[in-house]
Amino acid sequence: MKEKLNNIMEQASQEINNVTTYSDLEAVRVKYLGKKGLITGILRGMANLDANERPVIGRLANTVRNNIEDLISQKRQIIRNMEMEKRLKEETIDVTLPAKGGVLGGKHPLTLVLDEIKDIFIGMGFEIAEGPEVEYDYYNFEALNIPKDHPARDVQDTFYINENILLRTQTSPVQIRTMEKNRPPIRIIVPGRVYRSDEVDATHSPIFHQIEGLVVDRGITMGNLKGVLEVLARKLFGNNIETKFRPHHFPFTEPSAEMDVSCVVCGGEGCRVCSNTGWIEVLGAGMVHPKVLSICNIDPEVYSGFAFGMGLDRITMLKYEIDDVRLLFDNDIRFLQQF
Ligand code: DAH
Repeated sequence: MKEKLNNIMEQASQEINNVTTYSDLEAVRVKYLGKKGLITGILRGMANLDANERPVIGRLANTVRNNIEDLISQKRQIIRNMEMEKRLKEETIDVTLPAKGGVLGGKHPLTLVLDEIKDIFIGMGFEIAEGPEVEYDYYNFEALNIPKDHPARDVQDTFYINENILLRTQTSPVQIRTMEKNRPPIRIIVPGRVYRSDEVDATHSPIFHQIEGLVVDRGITMGNLKGVLEVLARKLFGNNIETKFRPHHFPFTEPSAEMDVSCVVCGGEGCRVCSNTGWIEVLGAGMVHPKVLSICNIDPEVYSGFAFGMGLDRITMLKYEIDDVRLLFDNDIRFLQQF
């Protein structure tokens, strides 16, 4: 029995020595140490041995088993090292291959134009103000001199949340919020999202963007209004642009006007974009109504101001000749990548 064990030991160590792969090594392990393995068989057969032989053979069998286990785990480590070396040799890195280019994101066209407009006004000493999109009826209408029966309050245009709260239909409420908290001189622009219950089509979206402007100080006149807005038009559309102010009506300004610019597409000749008029309306403006100043505790006898409001989406569409407002909201990467 002793001899048999010694032979097994000899044979196992040779076989372990010869294998070069994990699977062959595993086969050797099963052959000797597995459930039906040679060593396992001997240990199981111990019961049949003479009582005096049993401890000696038992000890020897255990030693042989431990030795084989040790050899196997040593060999496993050797195979692991060999495979690692092999991989390191095979997997050379070709540093001359071109690198994968990173994909850079870009700014949305609305953001590009807004940044440009902000820069223009910051250059003229304006600050940026903001206000809530969920707004009180008071700020959106009442304090702007838009009375209860005014058509702008119609539920067809306005998303009401309850009787007193709505989604702001314009950025003008931030005029009131600013004048309530600050004393003149005030020079702000207010970019922001506004909401109106419009059907979606190529020129309408229930969500769009406005930029409001407000200047209040002593001695502010319509001349200041024209000057500032002409600078805006030139910086935004180029030095050749012409501007025209038409009388209009807004409840919160008196007098009120709309500003047109010469058509940015045809230069004034007349085309589809300007409906053959040569002009395009870009904003509403006016001198802040004395009632609005009074509501904010600013004395209209001492101070005057002008205000204006423009549609960012419309201006962006004009600047980039985009003919469908929905493109600004779809976030189709093929569209956005063009900017
Ligand atoms: N809030 C107006 C609108 O949504 C735009 C506007 C016109 C704003 C004249 C003004 C303004 O501040 O003076 O149609």
